[in-house]
Amino acid sequence: MDLKEQILKEQANKICQTYKIAKEEALERLRVKLAENKPLQELISNAKSAKEVYRTRDFKDFIKKAKKDIYYDLRTYQKNADNLADSHISTRERAPFLDDLFSQIDGYLKEAEVVLDLGGGLFPATFPFDKYPKLRTYIWVDKDKKAYELLEQENYAKVVLYNYPLNENPWEYYLPDGKTEFDLVFMLKLVPVMYRQHREQLGHIAQVPFRHALITGSKEAMVKKLDIQNRENRIITKFITDSGWQITKKIDLPNEFGFLVE
Ligand SMILES: C[S@@+](CC[C@H](N)C(=O)[O-])C[C@H]1O[C@@H](n2cnc3c(N)ncnc32)[C@H](O)[C@@H]1O
Repeated sequence: MDLKEQILKEQANKICQTYKIAKEEALERLRVKLAENKPLQELISNAKSAKEVYRTRDFKDFIKKAKKDIYYDLRTYQKNADNLADSHISTRERAPFLDDLFSQIDGYLKEAEVVLDLGGGLFPATFPFDKYPKLRTYIWVDKDKKAYELLEQENYAKVVLYNYPLNENPWEYYLPDGKTEFDLVFMLKLVPVMYRQHREQLGHIAQVPFRHALITGSKEAMVKKLDIQNRENRIITKFITDSGWQITKKIDLPNEFGFLVE
């Protein structure tokens, strides 16, 4: 194997140990990036060993940039996804376990007429509306413009979309006429994100009126292969206690965990 191939393979191996990306994809991305980097190609063709290349500033900059690009690409929307739900990493990761999730909350969903999905992302794209005829309205609030536009195109019959930050309006603004509380509120993979990015808004979320709410967190980091369950669990359980809610049921999926509260 020539030196260039050896370097590309070694680096692709390293990247897929850290990031949720297949080895072939990491290799392909590095190959494309290297093809655009003439000085580094030259440096490699004149070098005697991989070690010699790894020590250079050119190589360090190259690999740093490659990792950064992969990190940002994996975080948000996947281009060329086969279906809508697959285009967002949060929904895509849950896809293999959706039946499992819905079976664990089935009893709550069967009773719900009004669902509020806070920071819903593309979750409505995976929601089995046909299975829950009692459901009248599914209200979605998220500040993400891209998710809003994608969902809007789908024209889901029962879904009402609000593209706002969660603290933008009082909760009555979203409540359908005659209702004083939501039957079920989803806060899926939301609370730890808000704790990190918009902690000042959590007090507002704590006031949302509901009969039941489902709050979940991830077991693994979104992009890196890193166990984060303990950290997320601490944030979520503290938020539940501070909000004065009681846990009525625990939810467990291979890569997500959560609590039903009332
Ligand atoms: C990790 S994603 C989870 C998406 C979805 N709930 C799921 O589990 O598939 C978090 C979502 O919360 C939204 N979000 C975070 N902070 C928000 C805020 N302050 N106001 C509105 N949306 C917010 C983000 O735009 C993103 O869509």
